[in-house]
Amino acid sequence: MKPKILVTREIFDDVLEYLAGHFEVVSNQEDHPMDRQTLTQNLADKSGVMTTLVDRVDADLLAGCPELKAVCNIAVGFNNIDLAACSKARVMVTNTPGVLDDSTADFTWALILATARRVVESDAHLRAGQWKGWYLKQFLGFDVHHATLGILGFGRIGQRVARRAAGFEMTVLYHSRRRADPDVERDCKATFVSKEELLARSDILTLHVPYAPSTHHLIGRAELAMLKPGAILINAARGGVVDDAALAEALASGRLGGAGLDVFENEPALHPALPAMKNVVLTPHIASSSAATRNAMAMLAARNLVAALTTGNPPNLLNPEYLRKG
Ligand code: GLV
Repeated sequence: MKPKILVTREIFDDVLEYLAGHFEVVSNQEDHPMDRQTLTQNLADKSGVMTTLVDRVDADLLAGCPELKAVCNIAVGFNNIDLAACSKARVMVTNTPGVLDDSTADFTWALILATARRVVESDAHLRAGQWKGWYLKQFLGFDVHHATLGILGFGRIGQRVARRAAGFEMTVLYHSRRRADPDVERDCKATFVSKEELLARSDILTLHVPYAPSTHHLIGRAELAMLKPGAILINAARGGVVDDAALAEALASGRLGGAGLDVFENEPALHPALPAMKNVVLTPHIASSSAATRNAMAMLAARNLVAALTTGNPPNLLNPEYLRKG
Protein backbone atom coordinates (compact mmCIF):
# COMPACT_ATOMS: atom_id res chain seq x y z
CA MET A 1 0.00 0.00 0.00
CA LYS A 2 1.29 3.45 -0.91
CA PRO A 3 1.91 5.89 1.96
CA LYS A 4 -0.73 8.59 2.32
CA ILE A 5 0.26 12.22 1.98
CA LEU A 6 -1.43 15.62 2.07
CA VAL A 7 -0.70 18.63 -0.13
CA THR A 8 -2.12 21.60 1.78
CA ARG A 9 -2.54 24.01 -1.18
CA GLU A 10 -2.95 23.89 -4.95
CA ILE A 11 0.18 22.75 -6.77
CA PHE A 12 1.19 22.16 -10.39
CA ASP A 13 -0.22 19.14 -12.29
CA ASP A 14 3.20 17.66 -13.13
CA VAL A 15 4.18 17.75 -9.44
CA LEU A 16 0.89 16.15 -8.46
CA GLU A 17 1.45 13.40 -11.06
CA TYR A 18 4.93 12.75 -9.73
CA LEU A 19 3.59 12.49 -6.18
CA ALA A 20 0.75 10.21 -7.32
CA GLY A 21 3.36 7.78 -8.67
CA HIS A 22 4.63 7.25 -5.11
CA PHE A 23 1.79 8.07 -2.75
CA GLU A 24 -1.92 8.06 -2.15
CA VAL A 25 -2.36 11.83 -2.43
CA VAL A 26 -4.98 14.07 -0.88
CA SER A 27 -4.51 17.49 -2.39
CA ASN A 28 -6.28 20.78 -1.80
CA GLN A 29 -6.52 21.74 -5.49
CA GLU A 30 -9.44 24.06 -4.66
CA ASP A 31 -6.80 26.05 -2.78
CA HIS A 32 -8.95 26.92 0.22
CA PRO A 33 -6.57 27.86 3.07
CA MET A 34 -7.04 25.09 5.67
CA ASP A 35 -7.80 26.15 9.23
CA ARG A 36 -6.07 24.32 12.08
CA GLN A 37 -8.89 21.89 12.64
CA THR A 38 -9.18 20.91 8.97
CA LEU A 39 -5.42 20.54 8.73
CA THR A 40 -5.26 18.33 11.83
CA GLN A 41 -8.18 16.20 10.60
CA ASN A 42 -6.57 15.77 7.20
CA LEU A 43 -3.21 14.84 8.70
CA ALA A 44 -4.49 12.25 11.17
CA ASP A 45 -3.65 9.32 8.86
CA LYS A 46 -0.89 10.87 6.69
CA SER A 47 2.79 9.92 6.60
CA GLY A 48 3.86 13.11 4.88
CA VAL A 49 2.74 16.62 4.08
CA MET A 50 3.71 19.28 1.56
CA THR A 51 3.24 22.58 3.37
CA THR A 52 3.42 26.22 2.37
CA LEU A 53 4.68 29.13 4.44
CA VAL A 54 1.18 29.86 5.75
CA ASP A 55 0.78 26.41 7.36
CA ARG A 56 1.93 26.51 10.98
CA VAL A 57 3.45 23.21 12.15
CA ASP A 58 4.01 23.02 15.89
CA ALA A 59 3.82 20.59 18.81
CA ASP A 60 0.10 21.10 19.08
CA LEU A 61 -0.52 20.07 15.47
CA LEU A 62 1.95 17.19 15.64
CA ALA A 63 0.13 15.76 18.66
CA GLY A 64 -2.81 15.01 16.36
CA CYS A 65 -0.69 13.43 13.59
CA PRO A 66 0.68 10.14 14.94
CA GLU A 67 1.63 8.78 11.48
CA LEU A 68 3.50 11.87 10.28
CA LYS A 69 7.15 11.32 9.29
CA ALA A 70 7.93 14.22 6.98
CA VAL A 71 6.97 17.87 6.53
CA CYS A 72 8.22 19.26 3.21
CA ASN A 73 7.85 23.02 2.99
CA ILE A 74 7.46 24.61 -0.45
CA ALA A 75 9.66 27.56 0.58
CA VAL A 76 13.23 28.24 1.52
CA GLY A 77 12.09 29.99 4.73
CA PHE A 78 10.77 27.68 7.43
CA ASN A 79 9.78 29.99 10.27
CA ASN A 80 6.27 28.48 10.02
CA ILE A 81 7.67 25.20 11.33
CA ASP A 82 8.82 24.45 14.88
CA LEU A 83 11.95 22.42 14.08
CA ALA A 84 12.57 21.37 17.68
CA ALA A 85 9.00 20.09 18.05
CA CYS A 86 9.33 18.16 14.77
CA SER A 87 12.63 16.59 15.84
CA LYS A 88 11.10 15.62 19.18
CA ALA A 89 8.20 13.99 17.35
CA ARG A 90 10.71 12.32 15.00
CA VAL A 91 9.38 14.17 11.96
CA MET A 92 11.77 15.14 9.17
CA VAL A 93 11.54 18.73 7.88
CA THR A 94 12.79 19.97 4.51
CA ASN A 95 12.82 23.28 2.60
CA THR A 96 13.61 24.35 -0.99
CA PRO A 97 16.97 26.19 -1.02
CA GLY A 98 18.72 27.22 -4.22
CA VAL A 99 15.95 27.03 -6.80
CA LEU A 100 14.47 30.43 -5.99
CA ASP A 101 17.62 32.52 -5.54
CA ASP A 102 17.72 34.14 -8.99
CA SER A 103 13.99 34.86 -9.18
CA THR A 104 14.02 36.41 -5.72
CA ALA A 105 17.07 38.52 -6.59
CA ASP A 106 15.39 39.64 -9.83
CA PHE A 107 12.30 40.67 -7.90
CA THR A 108 14.37 42.55 -5.34
CA TRP A 109 15.63 44.60 -8.26
CA ALA A 110 12.07 45.11 -9.49
CA LEU A 111 11.26 46.61 -6.07
CA ILE A 112 14.42 48.73 -6.02
CA LEU A 113 13.74 50.25 -9.43
CA ALA A 114 9.99 50.59 -8.97
CA THR A 115 10.46 52.38 -5.65
CA ALA A 116 13.35 54.63 -6.66
CA ARG A 117 11.81 55.64 -10.00
CA ARG A 118 8.18 55.85 -8.77
CA VAL A 119 6.90 53.35 -11.33
CA VAL A 120 3.75 52.27 -9.46
CA GLU A 121 2.80 55.77 -8.36
CA SER A 122 3.11 57.19 -11.88
CA ASP A 123 1.26 54.21 -13.37
CA ALA A 124 -1.63 54.87 -10.96
CA HIS A 125 -1.59 58.54 -11.98
CA LEU A 126 -2.10 57.62 -15.65
CA ARG A 127 -4.76 55.02 -14.97
CA ALA A 128 -6.69 57.56 -12.92
CA GLY A 129 -6.76 59.84 -15.98
CA GLN A 130 -4.69 62.50 -14.20
CA TRP A 131 -1.92 62.91 -16.78
CA LYS A 132 -2.42 66.32 -18.34
CA GLY A 133 0.89 66.62 -20.15
CA TRP A 134 4.66 66.53 -19.85
CA TYR A 135 6.40 68.56 -17.12
CA LEU A 136 10.10 68.82 -16.42
CA LYS A 137 9.63 68.17 -12.71
CA GLN A 138 7.11 65.36 -12.96
CA PHE A 139 7.67 62.31 -10.76
CA LEU A 140 11.27 63.16 -9.97
CA GLY A 141 12.84 59.97 -8.68
CA PHE A 142 16.07 58.80 -7.18
CA ASP A 143 18.98 57.56 -9.33
CA VAL A 144 19.88 53.93 -8.75
CA HIS A 145 23.01 53.99 -10.90
CA HIS A 146 26.17 54.89 -8.98
CA ALA A 147 24.26 54.87 -5.67
CA THR A 148 25.39 52.85 -2.64
CA LEU A 149 23.54 49.58 -2.20
CA GLY A 150 23.58 48.04 1.28
CA ILE A 151 22.79 44.34 1.62
CA LEU A 152 21.93 42.99 5.06
CA GLY A 153 22.25 39.21 4.96
CA PHE A 154 24.72 37.87 2.42
CA GLY A 155 23.62 34.31 1.71
CA ARG A 156 22.76 32.97 -1.73
CA ILE A 157 20.04 35.56 -2.43
CA GLY A 158 21.93 38.56 -1.03
CA GLN A 159 24.94 37.62 -3.17
CA ARG A 160 22.82 37.40 -6.32
CA VAL A 161 21.35 40.82 -5.60
CA ALA A 162 24.92 42.14 -5.31
CA ARG A 163 25.99 40.63 -8.65
CA ARG A 164 23.11 42.39 -10.40
CA ALA A 165 24.26 45.76 -9.00
CA ALA A 166 27.35 45.72 -11.25
CA GLY A 167 25.27 46.80 -14.25
CA PHE A 168 24.22 49.91 -12.33
CA GLU A 169 27.84 50.67 -11.39
CA MET A 170 26.92 50.87 -7.73
CA THR A 171 29.04 50.75 -4.62
CA VAL A 172 27.97 47.54 -2.88
CA LEU A 173 28.34 47.13 0.89
CA TYR A 174 27.13 44.18 2.90
CA HIS A 175 26.85 42.96 6.44
CA SER A 176 26.11 39.44 7.61
CA ARG A 177 26.79 37.31 10.66
CA ARG A 178 29.71 35.68 8.90
CA ARG A 179 31.97 37.48 6.45
CA ALA A 180 31.93 35.88 2.97
CA ASP A 181 35.03 34.27 1.46
CA PRO A 182 37.37 36.71 -0.33
CA ASP A 183 36.58 35.16 -3.74
CA VAL A 184 32.84 35.65 -3.17
CA GLU A 185 33.43 39.28 -2.16
CA ARG A 186 35.55 39.76 -5.27
CA ASP A 187 32.97 38.15 -7.59
CA CYS A 188 30.14 40.19 -6.06
CA LYS A 189 32.27 43.37 -5.90
CA ALA A 190 30.93 43.77 -2.36
CA THR A 191 32.66 45.18 0.72
CA PHE A 192 32.00 43.86 4.23
CA VAL A 193 31.15 46.57 6.78
CA SER A 194 29.65 46.67 10.28
CA LYS A 195 25.88 46.85 10.58
CA GLU A 196 26.22 50.46 11.80
CA GLU A 197 28.31 51.48 8.81
CA LEU A 198 25.90 49.72 6.46
CA LEU A 199 22.96 51.66 7.86
CA ALA A 200 24.83 54.95 7.79
CA ARG A 201 26.16 54.66 4.22
CA SER A 202 23.42 52.92 2.20
CA ASP A 203 21.27 54.91 -0.22
CA ILE A 204 19.26 51.73 -0.72
CA LEU A 205 19.18 49.06 1.99
CA THR A 206 17.90 45.61 1.04
CA LEU A 207 17.28 42.78 3.53
CA HIS A 208 18.07 39.12 2.89
CA VAL A 209 18.03 37.42 6.29
CA PRO A 210 15.73 34.61 7.43
CA TYR A 211 13.15 35.32 10.10
CA ALA A 212 14.03 33.90 13.53
CA PRO A 213 13.85 35.25 17.09
CA SER A 214 17.33 36.73 16.51
CA THR A 215 16.16 38.72 13.44
CA HIS A 216 12.83 39.91 14.87
CA HIS A 217 12.72 43.69 14.29
CA LEU A 218 16.32 43.66 13.12
CA ILE A 219 15.29 46.92 11.47
CA GLY A 220 13.40 48.77 14.19
CA ARG A 221 13.04 52.38 15.26
CA ALA A 222 16.72 52.75 16.25
CA GLU A 223 18.04 51.26 13.00
CA LEU A 224 15.66 53.33 10.86
CA ALA A 225 16.94 56.44 12.63
CA MET A 226 20.49 55.48 11.62
CA LEU A 227 19.63 55.35 7.90
CA LYS A 228 20.55 58.27 5.67
CA PRO A 229 17.78 60.83 5.26
CA GLY A 230 15.96 59.89 2.04
CA ALA A 231 17.22 56.29 2.01
CA ILE A 232 15.10 53.53 0.48
CA LEU A 233 14.37 50.29 2.32
CA ILE A 234 13.63 47.04 0.48
CA ASN A 235 12.28 43.93 2.18
CA ALA A 236 11.69 40.78 0.13
CA ALA A 237 12.93 38.54 2.98
CA ARG A 238 10.34 38.00 5.72
CA GLY A 239 7.79 40.00 7.62
CA GLY A 240 8.83 40.65 11.20
CA VAL A 241 12.44 41.42 10.22
CA VAL A 242 11.22 45.02 9.96
CA ASP A 243 9.11 46.74 12.62
CA ASP A 244 6.33 47.81 10.25
CA ALA A 245 4.90 50.41 12.67
CA ALA A 246 8.31 52.07 13.05
CA LEU A 247 8.78 51.94 9.27
CA ALA A 248 5.39 53.58 8.67
CA GLU A 249 6.42 56.37 11.07
CA ALA A 250 9.78 56.88 9.36
CA LEU A 251 8.06 57.07 5.96
CA ALA A 252 5.31 59.39 7.17
CA SER A 253 7.84 61.76 8.73
CA GLY A 254 9.65 62.02 5.39
CA ARG A 255 12.90 60.72 6.88
CA LEU A 256 12.93 57.75 4.51
CA GLY A 257 12.68 58.25 0.78
CA GLY A 258 10.59 55.17 0.17
CA ALA A 259 10.15 51.46 0.72
CA GLY A 260 9.62 48.44 -1.49
CA LEU A 261 7.94 45.71 0.50
CA ASP A 262 7.00 42.17 -0.53
CA VAL A 263 6.58 40.84 3.03
CA PHE A 264 4.79 42.14 6.12
CA GLU A 265 4.50 41.49 9.83
CA ASN A 266 0.93 40.18 9.86
CA GLU A 267 0.38 38.88 6.35
CA PRO A 268 -2.01 39.16 4.64
CA ALA A 269 -2.88 42.23 6.76
CA LEU A 270 -0.89 45.39 6.10
CA HIS A 271 0.03 48.09 8.59
CA PRO A 272 -2.93 50.45 8.04
CA ALA A 273 -0.75 53.46 7.18
CA LEU A 274 1.17 51.78 4.34
CA PRO A 275 -1.43 51.51 1.52
CA ALA A 276 -2.06 55.26 1.49
CA MET A 277 1.62 56.13 1.11
CA LYS A 278 2.72 57.09 -2.38
CA ASN A 279 6.41 56.40 -1.85
CA VAL A 280 5.81 52.75 -1.00
CA VAL A 281 5.60 49.81 -3.40
CA LEU A 282 3.63 46.90 -1.98
CA THR A 283 3.50 43.37 -3.40
CA PRO A 284 1.87 40.23 -1.94
CA HIS A 285 4.86 38.00 -1.05
CA ILE A 286 5.62 37.08 -4.67
CA ALA A 287 9.40 37.50 -4.89
CA SER A 288 9.92 33.87 -5.91
CA SER A 289 6.79 33.78 -8.05
CA SER A 290 7.89 33.14 -11.60
CA ALA A 291 6.09 30.19 -13.19
CA ALA A 292 9.33 28.25 -13.57
CA THR A 293 10.58 28.92 -10.05
CA ARG A 294 7.35 28.17 -8.19
CA ASN A 295 7.14 24.92 -10.18
CA ALA A 296 10.77 24.09 -9.30
CA MET A 297 10.08 24.79 -5.63
CA ALA A 298 7.05 22.49 -5.59
CA MET A 299 8.96 19.76 -7.45
CA LEU A 300 11.91 20.01 -5.07
CA ALA A 301 9.56 19.72 -2.09
CA ALA A 302 7.96 16.67 -3.74
CA ARG A 303 11.37 15.07 -4.33
CA ASN A 304 12.23 15.73 -0.70
CA LEU A 305 9.02 14.00 0.36
CA VAL A 306 9.65 10.97 -1.84
CA ALA A 307 13.22 10.67 -0.50
CA ALA A 308 12.07 11.19 3.09
CA LEU A 309 9.50 8.40 2.94
CA THR A 310 11.63 5.98 0.90
CA THR A 311 15.27 6.44 1.99
CA GLY A 312 14.69 8.45 5.17
CA ASN A 313 17.38 10.89 4.02
CA PRO A 314 15.92 13.75 1.96
CA PRO A 315 18.40 16.12 0.25
CA ASN A 316 17.24 19.29 2.02
CA LEU A 317 16.80 17.92 5.54
CA LEU A 318 16.71 20.76 8.07
CA ASN A 319 16.79 18.68 11.24
CA PRO A 320 19.60 16.13 10.76
CA GLU A 321 19.57 15.56 14.53
CA TYR A 322 16.42 13.57 13.73
CA LEU A 323 18.65 11.10 11.87
CA ARG A 324 21.37 11.04 14.52
CA LYS A 325 18.85 9.91 17.13
CA GLY A 326 18.58 6.76 14.91
C1 GLV B 1 9.39 32.44 0.23
O1 GLV B 1 9.12 33.38 0.91
C2 GLV B 1 10.25 31.38 0.65
O2 GLV B 1 10.70 31.36 1.80
O3 GLV B 1 10.53 30.50 -0.17
